[in-house]
Amino acid sequence: MIPVCRLADLPRGEASRFEGDPPIAVFHTEDGEVYAIDDTCTHQDASLSDGWLEGCEVECPLHASKFDLRTGKPDGPPARRPVRTHEVVVEDGMVCVRLSEAVPSVPACAARRLAVEGAV
Ligand code: FES
Repeated sequence: MIPVCRLADLPRGEASRFEGDPPIAVFHTEDGEVYAIDDTCTHQDASLSDGWLEGCEVECPLHASKFDLRTGKPDGPPARRPVRTHEVVVEDGMVCVRLSEAVPSVPACAARRLAVEGAV
């Protein structure tokens, strides 16, 4: 498990992006649940932590596909592939993430940018 932040530093209804290979996004829903997914949309190069959180879904800020934070599945086009989801445990007020071993579904345009930045 990787400690990513203190829960107190991630208010309900907010998300944060954490550098990784690839980066991950952690969401704290209004209901108090915490979810982690890959930060990069599976359609094009957009950061899902910049999207709009509603319930257990995040809407991509670029083309508005919504991803279910529990399953990673998009609700419809233009995104077609699910985003990876990661296991989250909150221990002693610390949000910890166990990264999925599935292959990330990062689109080529985002993979190039992340490679230049040294994230992939
Ligand atoms: S970049 Fe996310 S839906 Fe297009």
